[in-house]
Amino acid sequence: MEVINNQESNISELIPVAVDNCAASTLEKKWQNIDNQESPNKFIQYVDEASKQDQIIAHTRYSTRQLMLEPGFKVMDVGCGAGKDLSRLESLVESHGEVYGIDISREMVECARARMSHLPNVEVFCGDASQLPVDSNTMDAIRCERLLQHVPSPDMVIAEMVRVTKNGGRIVITDVDWSSTTISIPKSIEKINRIILNDVVFNAHPTIGIQLKGRMKQNKSIDNIEIFAQCLYTDSLAQADELLWLGERGKMAVQQGLISEEDYNQWRETIEQLELDGNFVFTMNIFTVSGTINKK
Ligand SMILES: C[S@@+](CC[C@H](N)C(=O)[O-])C[C@H]1O[C@@H](n2cnc3c(N)ncnc32)[C@H](O)[C@@H]1O
Repeated sequence: MEVINNQESNISELIPVAVDNCAASTLEKKWQNIDNQESPNKFIQYVDEASKQDQIIAHTRYSTRQLMLEPGFKVMDVGCGAGKDLSRLESLVESHGEVYGIDISREMVECARARMSHLPNVEVFCGDASQLPVDSNTMDAIRCERLLQHVPSPDMVIAEMVRVTKNGGRIVITDVDWSSTTISIPKSIEKINRIILNDVVFNAHPTIGIQLKGRMKQNKSIDNIEIFAQCLYTDSLAQADELLWLGERGKMAVQQGLISEEDYNQWRETIEQLELDGNFVFTMNIFTVSGTINKK
């Protein structure tokens, strides 16, 4: 792969520089700065758990198909996390293709690199999605999954993904719409529930999933835009707490002064009772939007 500064393609030479840049980052939000959190491993466990969800698996299968990969292609996964999708991409481009994973977190990169060490044509490196350290028009296809909700400027990341992809190449982006979340609650806690589900701010772009199509359309170098949506759901409160941060969001609503501690307790007791009665259901929408690069 060619890298910026017209250097020849050994991406591993870039890694020490990029890693230093990551450490120097002062981004506030947790997912933008996993390496400086108390327990970065928790984030790796989180992406591993999410990757086992049926609807995430279905979405990933769809998004991989939309990349239209062929043997010998070069493909990049931006915000690749612990590398859950890299070996699937490798199996499609085969041993003479090239797979690149990039993530801002050194911990994620090290984990993904260790997991991919048996595949010599998969390289994982550390860097910022809004400034990809890659020459323009290099990739045949590019994807990102559940990244844009965390970055300061999703449009800048989309523009970077377009820049590094060849004319006629494919771009596929998956993200969720946290504002679409619903719980099977009774009327008595509707107001508190709405505040917890809709008003708590806990990442940079909670509604990015529903905006994806419009944002990709705004980029004049993406044609043939297609959208695929699905409902993520669970009837397990434990899973909603773990994967969808339900409990965490309730606590954040108190911290952000949106509800009182009493409101929180009433809400929590009610949803715990729902679970005991077998009536708990949580839903959220997930979107994949794909297109073809056409730099007129
Ligand atoms: C929710 S995880 C998703 C990981 C992976 N795509 C998956 O589906 O398992 C979001 C990832 O985006 C990474 N990330 C956040 N901001 C980034 C940025 N500006 N550039 C590159 N990666 C970033 C995080 O380090 C994290 O690994």
